Amino acid sequence: MKDTVGLITQEDKEFYKQNGYWISPVLFDEAEIEAMRQAHDRVWANDYDGDGYPLGEWDGEPKSLRKIDNTWWINDVIRDTVTNPVLGRIAAGLMDSTGARLWYDQIIYKPGTGTGKKDSVSLGNVGWHQDYIYWQCTNTDNLVTAWIALQDTDLSNGCMSVIPGSHKWGLLEGSDGFFNRDLDAVKSRLEGAGRDWKEVPMILKAGQASFHHSLAIHGSGQNYSEHPRLSIVAHLMPDGTYYKNRGHNVDNIRLLGSRPKEGQLYNSEYFPLAYSEKADS
Ligand SMILES: [Fe+2]
Repeated sequence: MKDTVGLITQEDKEFYKQNGYWISPVLFDEAEIEAMRQAHDRVWANDYDGDGYPLGEWDGEPKSLRKIDNTWWINDVIRDTVTNPVLGRIAAGLMDSTGARLWYDQIIYKPGTGTGKKDSVSLGNVGWHQDYIYWQCTNTDNLVTAWIALQDTDLSNGCMSVIPGSHKWGLLEGSDGFFNRDLDAVKSRLEGAGRDWKEVPMILKAGQASFHHSLAIHGSGQNYSEHPRLSIVAHLMPDGTYYKNRGHNVDNIRLLGSRPKEGQLYNSEYFPLAYSEKADS
């Protein structure tokens, strides 16, 4: 990690406020990226650094998208990555908060189809969605997702795209499209009358990260390359975020204890602080 990055400017904040996303400079160097790629391999090989609670979602089909949540529990490199203070400082800056805690993480593996042919319902697609539709047990939608590229990433290998300004559209009905591979079908459900639907690809060099608001609509298409597209994703929340009973995301509610109470802070060891302004002063 280079220590010269991580302080975002007022201009950056304004851009994020307007567009609902922001792209960082390169945050991780080659050796760090290699370690993260090896961490991916170890998790997919069920080689864990300790007991944990990974939640895997892969149908076993080689061409399908693979995703696992909570891998920071079971892999030390991923833990260090998603609780990295520079990542946390950027997140806190974008959320306008004094601190950033890890909500949870994901590792994502999008296989390369190598066909070079467009298939609108590729098995590796991630349908358009808003993260917050899955996270309504938090009292705020002011959460941010950091998506770290472990190789150069663009449309040819299925990069994520964001709809700028969509974080201002509120929480939309039917925005839980993550597992719907038919991007066009979900789009027609969400774009709505009068909404300016523009798709901006998050083109990243290896080691760069994109940050998006929990209400920003995003998704990704086919990876036409010969190689898998790997990423590590950190979902971060402002320090002080608390439990709101809206009947969603029981997997994270469970971590608060067997009977979470309205207003209970997400501040246990299961939600580590990635950054706090207090620690800087
Ligand atoms: Fe997402």
